[in-house]
Amino acid sequence: MTVTTLVVPAGGLGTRFLPATKALPKEMVPVGDRPAIQWGLEEAVASGIHRAVVVTAPGKDLIRAHFASDPALEQILESRGSRELAERVRSIAGLCQLEFVEQLEPLGLGHAVLCARPLLEGEDAVAVLLPDDLFDGTPPLLAQLLEANARAGCTVLALRRYPRESISRYGVAEVAGDGPVFQVTDVVEKPSAEEAPSDLAIMGRYVLSREVLDRLDQVAPGAGGEIQLTDAIREVARAGRVLGVEFVGRLLDVGTLDSWLATNAAIVWRDPVLGPALRERIRELEAEP
Ligand code: UTP
Repeated sequence: MTVTTLVVPAGGLGTRFLPATKALPKEMVPVGDRPAIQWGLEEAVASGIHRAVVVTAPGKDLIRAHFASDPALEQILESRGSRELAERVRSIAGLCQLEFVEQLEPLGLGHAVLCARPLLEGEDAVAVLLPDDLFDGTPPLLAQLLEANARAGCTVLALRRYPRESISRYGVAEVAGDGPVFQVTDVVEKPSAEEAPSDLAIMGRYVLSREVLDRLDQVAPGAGGEIQLTDAIREVARAGRVLGVEFVGRLLDVGTLDSWLATNAAIVWRDPVLGPALRERIRELEAEP
């Protein structure tokens, strides 16, 4: 069973990053020289994914526009001698087979995946990547999960350790075994520090089996009418068919102003071209009165 299709939920409102995200989709904020969502799709392609279903929302047309081919722009760049830039622009549209579906109301992550489900018929399992978390490391995070899925053929979650005091912001896994590949025996959405079953938070990459996809429409809506993905995963985990991978590498968030600023600094700092240019510019600025 080879997983070749990815779901990219990008239908949220991005309220924690307002007012920047009033008209600009959160997934389109630039990190280094490209929008956040492009980093996510590149990670997926590097992990062997060939097709992606992007779940957008009304008013988020910029996402589709970014991945559309633009022969007129390419031609202008070529006529100006910017052949390399023209090639980079062209390669965005050729990244992988992309399909789009709209989530008409932001009813949660589980609901976003449910919106993509009609385009997932015939898939035994799919990958899911939240584009507001960038992965920096090797092998790609999605590849680390897909490797575990290829061995065990079941649902796989990405796990990261957090101090107890900050774990309440996340879904948390109850696990068995020594890791780095754990058996996930239960999942709890945003538990208090005292009730958290472990310090392993569930992060924005998943491989979901057909069993989880089929359970999504049985999930009862929770607070705000939201359908949580963790609710669809819970029974499958309790039945012993979910693994969790404590991954290698860093995951950088762009969902708030301060996290986006820090992620840009982290990515640009290590870039061989942008890094020295940024440091030079900062030195110049600091020398100014
Ligand atoms: P977040 O919860 O981080 O995004 O979801 P959000 O809801 O847009 O942000 P805030 O909390 O209002 O600031 C992670 C990913 O899931 C998508 C988001 O677009 C983001 O890429 N998502 C979230 C959906 O596709 N649909 C939803 O209903 C909620």
